[in-house]
Amino acid sequence: MKREQFLKLTATAGAAALLGDLEGFAHEQATKLKVAIIGCGSVSNRYIPHLQSSSLIEIVALCDIKYDRAIAQNQQYTVNAATYSSIDALLKGVPFDMMVTLTDMQAHGELNKKALMAGKHVWSEKPMANTYAEGKALLELSVNKKLKLWGAPAVVNSPQFAFMSKCIQEGKIGKVASAHGQYGHTGPTWSAFFYEKGGGSMPDLGVYNIATLTGLLGPAHSVMAMTSIVNPERVVDDKGKIKVEAEDNAHILMDHGRGVISHVMCGFNYFDPYGHEAKDQQLHSIQVFGDKGNLRLIGYDWETNGVVLSDSWDRPASLHEKESGGYVWQEGATVVGESIVRGNQPRIHVEHALHVLEIMEASRNSSAQGKRIELSSRFPWPVV
Ligand SMILES: NC(=O)c1ccc[n+]([C@@H]2O[C@H](COP(=O)([O-])OP(=O)(O)OC[C@H]3O[C@@H](n4cnc5c(N)ncnc54)[C@H](O)[C@@H]3O)[C@@H](O)[C@H]2O)c1
Repeated sequence: MKREQFLKLTATAGAAALLGDLEGFAHEQATKLKVAIIGCGSVSNRYIPHLQSSSLIEIVALCDIKYDRAIAQNQQYTVNAATYSSIDALLKGVPFDMMVTLTDMQAHGELNKKALMAGKHVWSEKPMANTYAEGKALLELSVNKKLKLWGAPAVVNSPQFAFMSKCIQEGKIGKVASAHGQYGHTGPTWSAFFYEKGGGSMPDLGVYNIATLTGLLGPAHSVMAMTSIVNPERVVDDKGKIKVEAEDNAHILMDHGRGVISHVMCGFNYFDPYGHEAKDQQLHSIQVFGDKGNLRLIGYDWETNGVVLSDSWDRPASLHEKESGGYVWQEGATVVGESIVRGNQPRIHVEHALHVLEIMEASRNSSAQGKRIELSSRFPWPVV
């Protein structure tokens, strides 16, 4: 509860209600979730202020193997956290409840496991693990230890996702047949890990579209894919000239059952004047077609600028959900952290993140073997 709301309530409420609110207020203050962030690079600039904006969360520790980054972020955002240069030191340091993993993708599985073993809840940037088997083992570990585990992205939280999902569920576009998603730019320049083994355009970019399309159309039963390396060498800030080892171009076909097929293309060599910025982007990056209508999401699914619904031969297409409604792509850790304090179930589901991980791994296998790959994971659907 914000102080202004609190004051308003206390001015109008009766004595009994007032007492209840006071107790609730005191409870919220006493049960702030203590969070540790591991990885203080680029994306931490979005996560730290968002976590700080929550009255239910307190960042108590920052960790980075490039220790100067942990110190710098602590100062820049006046976090007043303890700082560490390794996960082992972090886990032995100040007590905390949830670890937020924002490191190089390749380190996620190992770090998330260590945190769970030490009794911490985990929110992980994508991917939540580096192989599907590792992801499944992490989920089992979290269940056995009665801990919460979640993986980015948070695309299902946007009002645009909810609008599209409801249109599909209510039959507004008829019998759904096909969908397309695309996300690409010319690639991050700051770190080599995006291009090294375990990196790639699927876990960095395609992951958003895969989460959106499976979220809208249901779990995929099988995939076929082609992946490639378009640009075999790159120059990046942290390592200079490097060899590109992970796919920088991918086309993924997903079979969702019921005859529904979707397609995702993603890559690090896609010219787009909006690049990594979503504001004012007009591209229809997600399109869903049924036999009575179609839905086109404007901008990127992680930060969208509305949805166009076309469902009439006579009326022009209509524009919906132009506003974000408070949703921002970096909100995942805050939303799940608050759900732990409040004891409610967030829309983001770990089994969905695990399913997306299985799709990405299967896509690489499909491309390497030239065949369709069956999938075993599922998640609770419909999401909305
Ligand atoms: N940068 C973005 O805009 C953005 C957006 C969404 C998601 N992401 C995701 O966030 C993650 C981080 O991306 P980034 O762009 O911030 O990368 P980055 O290179 O800027 O930062 C990663 C940081 O992690 C640290 N690190 C690596 N291994 C570590 C370990 N074992 N222990 C502690 N620290 C370690 C590095 O020293 C570095 O400071 C990736 O999974 C990426 O896909 C990034």
